[in-house]
Amino acid sequence: MDVADLVAAARHCIVFTGAGISAESGVPTFRGAGGLWERYRPEELATPEAFARDPELVWRWYRWRQELVYRAGPNPGHRAVAELEAIGVVKAVITQNVDGLHQRAGSRNVVELHGSLWRARCVECGAVYRLDKPVEEAPPRCPRCGGLLRPDVVWFGEPLPRDAWERAVELASRSDVVLVVGTSGVVYPAAYIPRIAKDHGAVLVEVNVEESAITPIADFFLRGRSGEVLPRLVEEVKKGLGTRRS
Ligand code: OAD
Repeated sequence: MDVADLVAAARHCIVFTGAGISAESGVPTFRGAGGLWERYRPEELATPEAFARDPELVWRWYRWRQELVYRAGPNPGHRAVAELEAIGVVKAVITQNVDGLHQRAGSRNVVELHGSLWRARCVECGAVYRLDKPVEEAPPRCPRCGGLLRPDVVWFGEPLPRDAWERAVELASRSDVVLVVGTSGVVYPAAYIPRIAKDHGAVLVEVNVEESAITPIADFFLRGRSGEVLPRLVEEVKKGLGTRRS
């Protein structure tokens, strides 16, 4: 059976994504050539300690990322994932990305394991605010209590949001096919998700431009850019569904 037939026949297919799926939108990945962490040391920016030390610097970095994503848009890879959901094949997307591009492409059931660039949270009163554009002030203040707002994302050393994690584990345990797209698979606990699915009997299909920490447990490896590989896969899946239904 080839990958398209497998996906077309899946009862509970999910997609697990990382920064690679947004690379073709012009959003830099974290690792590898041109990755974000090459230019900035993560411990300087993406930690609670860094925020306590210099909230302005941390917010300037997040504002830069917000502006980048705001100007960018979803690419054919995000749209292919959304289409697989629209035709009833994909049940959910579990993403490590904070850019919101899956939702902008039309994906509806998205679990964000690492939070979102498009929310801010008050460190004093806990109020959460949705952002529809990049913040103007750095750092912004809570309109209710005047406390400092922080990006509602997961930083190094912080736990994942419990809700998102529990939903992700549940989805992974029930899945029969997982498309693992554009992730190096080295950041835990997120990287447990494909492993949990595999342990529960799912078939893993990896899409990546190069091998990753997931590759040794992947059943299929589709080498290439997700913006090229996924739209082709969708076309084949649709043909497969047509044949199965006729
Ligand atoms: P990484 O930057 O670690 O990995 C990106 C992956 O995408 C690599 O395996 C690349 O080979 C692959 N890639 C690059 N371009 C691609 C393309 N066009 N098509 C397909 N694959 C491509 O990103 P993540 O695995 O998402 O966490 O990183 C995981 C976490 O590390 C992030 O969520 C972030 C970071 O620390 C937090 O901020 C908490």
